[in-house]
Amino acid sequence: MASEKKIISLTVKVGLVLFAVCILAPVSLMVLLRHTVPLQTLRLLFSAGPTSSVMWEEEKMDSANEGEQLLCECDMSNLRSDVCELKGDVRVILSNITIIALVHPSASLRRRSRRMKPHARKKDGHVLASVTDVLVSVTPSSPHVPGCMAESAAPAVVFSVGGGYEGNMFHDFTDVLIPLFITASRFRSDVHLLASDAPSWWLDKYRPLLRGLSGHAVIDMDRQSTEVLCYPHVVVGLSFHKEMSINDAKTAGGHYSMAAFARLARRSYGLERDTAIRLLHGSSDNVKSPRRPRLLIISRKTTRAFTNMGTVAQAAAMLGYEVIVGEAEQRSDLSALARLVNSCDVLVGVHGTGLANLVFLPPGAVVVQVVPLGGLEAMAGEDFGVPAGDMGLGYVRYTVAIGESTLAELHPSDNPAAVRSQASLALRPAYLAGQNVTLNVTRFSGALSLALELLHH
Ligand SMILES: *[C@@H]1O[C@H](CO)[C@@H](O)[C@H](O)[C@H]1NC(C)=O
Ligand SMILES: *[C@@H]1O[C@H](CO)[C@@H](O)[C@H](O)[C@H]1NC(C)=O
Ligand SMILES: *[C@@H]1O[C@H](CO)[C@@H](O)[C@H](O)[C@H]1NC(C)=O
Repeated sequence: MASEKKIISLTVKVGLVLFAVCILAPVSLMVLLRHTVPLQTLRLLFSAGPTSSVMWEEEKMDSANEGEQLLCECDMSNLRSDVCELKGDVRVILSNITIIALVHPSASLRRRSRRMKPHARKKDGHVLASVTDVLVSVTPSSPHVPGCMAESAAPAVVFSVGGGYEGNMFHDFTDVLIPLFITASRFRSDVHLLASDAPSWWLDKYRPLLRGLSGHAVIDMDRQSTEVLCYPHVVVGLSFHKEMSINDAKTAGGHYSMAAFARLARRSYGLERDTAIRLLHGSSDNVKSPRRPRLLIISRKTTRAFTNMGTVAQAAAMLGYEVIVGEAEQRSDLSALARLVNSCDVLVGVHGTGLANLVFLPPGAVVVQVVPLGGLEAMAGEDFGVPAGDMGLGYVRYTVAIGESTLAELHPSDNPAAVRSQASLALRPAYLAGQNVTLNVTRFSGALSLALELLHH
């Protein structure tokens, strides 16, 4: 009996020792580390303006320590977006979107903070009105700083979806999704995406793509019950390069190109085609080809509508196309639309009417952009022409003639050039909203033939 009791007590003792070693030791080690290792360097940087001038910088440390650590670094120099990076013990307080990098109290630093809008359209008041301010701060740790409710070893990217262009896919891509890809790719999917001002339909619409960017579920900051999230590294705001595209020279090792983004978009929505039809030279050969090139004309019902769609579709069929007329609804089922676009070889649309779907085209396909009146050529090129090239797509620009726009009827003029010149910058929205397009089929067939030429890639 006595020996049995001894064994039990021994087991208990061994158990206690194991408990002490396994549980308590790491905890105390962690406590120890928190006080010995932290923050030798307290060089804090906030830079601002196109010159990246340093707004404030403080240092307090024995300079013998190597490995300086920037706790908060901000780049305010980009014309489209501000980005801050915080490292160390970073806390994200969701109730008032405050992001704090903690410094050791012994640093005797004053608290520093700045407000920012984590959205890549920084001069656009129309959008910014719907973008919640974020307070970025470097704060000495104290009992007043809220404790972590969830800790992550992965970094986080904080961004706002914002409003202003509700459901406009071009803005979703150029202002949010592509900048998010640029910002988050270096973390190779192991990153928390923290979104604010994000309607739930928006998160649903782009969920496949967001999943492609991160292995973790998106954290909807406006509907999250956990109040304080902690990270070792937080990026606030999204990097912007150029409209609807990426300057790969600016990405780490040139790894993140627009072509890579398009590949990710196709993969996210389960799209199979990664190369467009390849036509053979000589039209007789093409007759024998098993499939005709597919042409998708994106139409709109309200503004910038094609008024003679039937005639245009007929002319395209005469040229050898299989013609599909699609509608790009604002909140449509994106997966279905993406599959339709991916099945096509040529995409036709008027500037600003669903051409952003070009990201789902298979490489080698061709985009035909119909540019309405209003001096929009430069903008049209930046928004879709350059991005198409960056994605490995062919591009044809078709600028409508005066007689092809309903504006000509509204503003009858002896001098056609007058209609063009009236289209000053201020009038642009009215011009974009107030015109339909009646394509001159003879003239437009030239553009469609050019697209066929480009399919001989
Ligand atoms: C944000 O909320 C936290 C926690 O409630 C609070 O400690 C902090 O002072 C707030 N910050 C601002 C700027 O209101
Ligand atoms: C354009 O076409 C649509 C649909 O046919 C019509 O409702 C609209 O009034 C037209 N707009 C102009 C400016 O002609
Ligand atoms: C249509 O375009 C063709 C070729 O550019 C041109 O010769 C013809 O005059 C145009 N028709 C109209 C009605 O403007």
